[in-house]
Amino acid sequence: MKLEIAVLSGDGIGPEVTTQAIKALDAIAHAFDHTFIFKEALVGAIAIDKTGNPLPDDTLQLCANTDAVLFGAIGDPKYDNDPSAKVRPEQGLLRLRKELGLYANIRPVKAYETLLDKSPLKREIITGTDISIYRELTGGIYFGRKHLNEEGTVASDLCEYSKEEIERISHLAFKAAQNRRKKLTLVDKANVLESSRLWRKVVTEIATAYEDVTLDFLFVDNAAMQMILNPSQFDVILTENMFGDIISDEASVIGGSIGLLASASVGNTCCMFEPIHGSYPQATGKGIANPIAAILSAAMLLEHFNLIDEANSIKNAVEKALELNLTTPDLNNINPLTTEKVGDFIYDYILNPEDSNMNFENIHVGQSTII
Ligand code: IPM
Ligand code: MG
Repeated sequence: MKLEIAVLSGDGIGPEVTTQAIKALDAIAHAFDHTFIFKEALVGAIAIDKTGNPLPDDTLQLCANTDAVLFGAIGDPKYDNDPSAKVRPEQGLLRLRKELGLYANIRPVKAYETLLDKSPLKREIITGTDISIYRELTGGIYFGRKHLNEEGTVASDLCEYSKEEIERISHLAFKAAQNRRKKLTLVDKANVLESSRLWRKVVTEIATAYEDVTLDFLFVDNAAMQMILNPSQFDVILTENMFGDIISDEASVIGGSIGLLASASVGNTCCMFEPIHGSYPQATGKGIANPIAAILSAAMLLEHFNLIDEANSIKNAVEKALELNLTTPDLNNINPLTTEKVGDFIYDYILNPEDSNMNFENIHVGQSTII
């Protein structure tokens, strides 16, 4: 298969982790005889620095005209600490999601057997956790009307959803549940919010078309608690934009590091793949950022194009790295590898998965050679 992929590596650790994701895709192209063409473009704080715009027109054009977008991270503390900044890196990402119509953000959360003791949660609580979060991505409070009064003393953000916006992601979530453990939990705040009551009504109607899927509901405050008390009860979680943002960061604790969580954002015509972590500015250039979330996002890209064996090849390499503790300091503070070395191992393993031929000893001293 030939795919043109826009690469928006963005800010902070974005470029370092995206380089490793590209490397994994290069290994797949080699091993499975595909052609992946990468085209880079600016987004986020770096785009503001260079062009004044967090999403330059060229970048948007490129994304709209390629098969997929591989996204790194955005954000810079100089904007976080300045609430009066009119132009912000995050606007680039939000506009990109909206313009490309990426209404569904899929975030898988898994407790890897080999990492059960790395999580701050107890092993017996997280064992068996395997969740797929379907977060609505182009509506709700993120995109509703914003207002600040002239005195700068009263502000509001409108949370608005239409039936159509709820329906299209709900169908994707129900279909996903049909291919999994057939359970869907709608997370909302229907005891307080009118928009949540609309979600419940629409999702309940849609459920009649998916009789094999059990639907249940949880208020978001309770869901936040259940995520920590008993995460393995969840299969597919369906939720609106902001609840999904918060719940997915919380869920990342289960896996042991937010540096493991990948995501796919899909719409009717475009698709984008990004780690759920941010730009982690303190780590920039230090080689300590975990590239696995970015690499697993590349695996989700392959899955999206139905390249299932290829995606599994990346996932197997990642699982091997985790099993051998060939990871960055977030998961291994005794004998960590750099971002690049983790990427090297995964690259090598994709090309040659035979354990016996890999010189694991050398990896820790910086030579991930195949012998
Ligand atoms: C995410 C991020 C973004 C969001 C930020 C960077 C705008 O936190 O993708 O989860 O809130 O959606
Ligand atoms: Mg977030």
